[in-house]
Formats: sequence, C-alpha cells, structure tokens
Amino acid sequence: MIETVHVPLEGRAYDVRIGPDLLTRAGAEIAPLLARPRVAIVTDAHVAGLHLPALESALAAEGISSVSLTLPAGEATKGWPQFERTVEWLLEQKIERRDVVIALGGGVIGDLVGFAAAVLRRGVRFVQIPTSLLAQVDSSVGGKTGINAPQGKNLIGAFHQPALVLADISVLNSLPVRDFLAGYGEVVKYGLLGDAAFFDWQDQNADRITARDPDALAHAVKRSVEMKAEIVVRDETEQGDRALLNLGHTFCHALEAATGYSDRLLHGEGVAIGCALAFELSARLGLCSQEVPSRVREMLNRMGMKVTLADIDGDLPDAQRLLDLMGQDKKVVDGQLRFILARGIGEAFVTSDVPVDVVHALLQDQLAGR
Ligand code: GLY
Repeated sequence: MIETVHVPLEGRAYDVRIGPDLLTRAGAEIAPLLARPRVAIVTDAHVAGLHLPALESALAAEGISSVSLTLPAGEATKGWPQFERTVEWLLEQKIERRDVVIALGGGVIGDLVGFAAAVLRRGVRFVQIPTSLLAQVDSSVGGKTGINAPQGKNLIGAFHQPALVLADISVLNSLPVRDFLAGYGEVVKYGLLGDAAFFDWQDQNADRITARDPDALAHAVKRSVEMKAEIVVRDETEQGDRALLNLGHTFCHALEAATGYSDRLLHGEGVAIGCALAFELSARLGLCSQEVPSRVREMLNRMGMKVTLADIDGDLPDAQRLLDLMGQDKKVVDGQLRFILARGIGEAFVTSDVPVDVVHALLQDQLAGR
C-alpha cells in the first residue's frame, strides 16, 4: 500500500508518497506535474547502476521521455564543480521553468539537485526520489538544498521545496547494512525528540527493522516524515522549532570534523552517538533521570548501531578540541553553543544555557572509556 504525507506549506504544498515499488510507478506519479512529457534526471554512478533503468522504463511507460546526467558518487560531488556542471547541463538540455528535474539518489544528490533547481532560471520544480534511508526520512523533505564550501558543510544553499517526494521502501533492500543503520539514526532521532510512543514502537520492532520488513520500514519512514513535515510547516526557515531536528547534531558535527568527514564516521552514525550524548548530558544536568540515557543506549546497542565515542575507530582529539569544533557549528548564535536537550524521551527542547564544563567532563569521560 502506498501512503501519503502531505506537507501543507502555503503556495508550496506537496506530497511525500511512501511505499513499495514506487520507482516502477514513477511515471504515473510524476505525469500530473508535467506541462510536457519530458524530464531531466540527475543521479550518481552508484545509484544509476542500481535504479536508473527502472526509473527510465517507468517514465517511458507513461510516454515521458528523459535525459540523464550521472555524477560521481560520494560527498566530494557536493561542491561548486559538479554543481556548475549540473546547472550547465540542465541549460544545455533546454530545461525550462515549467519543466521538472528529478533527483534520484541519496542526500548528496538531493541537496545538490535541489539547489540547482532553485537557481536554474530563478527556480524550476524538482522531484525527490531518495534512495537512502537517511534521505527518505530527512534530507528529501523540508526544502533544505545546497552544497559544501571549503569553509564547511552545507554553507551554500537555498530553501527550495520539492514538488513531490517518492520514497520507495523497496530500494532500501539494496543498502549495505552500515548505510541502512546510519540512516536509522535519523529515525531514532524523531522518537527521541518528540514522540515517546514512536520510540517504544522502535524498541518493540527492532527485529523487524533489522530484517527490513517492508511494513515496519514503511511505518518508520512515514512517522518520521510526518514529524518532519509538522516541524517544517511550523518553522520552514529554522527560526525556532526546526532546530529540534538537530538533536544530536552539535556533537555529531564536531565528531564528523574530528574524523575528517571520512568513512570512519557516517553522518547518521554521528547522529546516533550525538543523540546518546545529548541524553547523557541532559541527565547530568538533572533534566531527566539516568535511566533515560541508559534506555537510549540500550536500544541503539541492540540495533547494532554506534553509540559512544568508543565505537569510533582510530584516534580522536581531546575534549577541549572537540569543544572547539562544536564552537564552529552553524548553529552557534552570538558565540553561544546551542544544544538540543531533553526532559525525557520525546521531550526535546533547544537551549543555549549549557555550562561548558559539564560538556567538557562528559567528553573527557567518554574519551577515557575508549
Ligand atoms: N536536517 C535538518 C533539517 O532539515 O532541518
């Protein structure tokens, strides 16, 4: 069964369609958006090998012709050179304002293509077909698009909402276990930040998730997207509540920087560790009981996910250096570190009022445990 989550942003509303085999229905799903039966697809070399022929056939079956551009796979693609190449290719293909561009891939492709669509002829519509769990539950929804700068990740971009998102649960079967579990870090985040019942459901259904049971995956993606949609509609441009989506990210960004944005730590793995740390910090600050972070760690452990700094291979810098790296986070406002803390599972809030020495001690204890 295909389910729909509507994102009711005024003047920019769209549907997120979630279910099995959506890729093979993509032509029928996209056709109502088209002024003429022609689309441009941008993907990466890895995803093209797995899913591009299925998408092309699905479009052709509805009489929609397509052209495609295949970029190199990997985070290094998300910068000016491949962005320029994409925009110029779209112009060469004579993509007009009324046309639709399709982003087929994970977060890198979705962010880059969304940004290209935002600036092409001052804005064309685009469809997200996210092929990673992380992209399905987070980056494909909500309109954050952009590329990395030499000065930092995601520093160049625009808010540009997609016209449609097709989250095909079946494509998740092709993900390596590590990528799948990393993406699941973002799913866990949603329960932790605002829905204790969803966290309980994850806890009770851990085996089904690990086995990639399609109904369990569809529920996990749908509830995550519903929560993201609610928050984005309340605060599209992150003036307030949208920051809740950054639970675990202050720690995560410092750890990603400390590990050189390498394969040592995938983003979703950093989010899971960051969430566990945010809950531990909340307990140390007396906001919740010690059982709460223990329960979070227990669930992550049972899923086989990364949970503590001890789970990161290789050397890490000392606690002070990690704190300095946190200070370079995008979310620093007037030099104040902003944290997402919690009064319990599902009860997160944003605060700048965190004593640095408590964070320092927490990091030092974690590093000593490695
Ligand atoms: N990934 C966080 C957000 O979309 O706001």
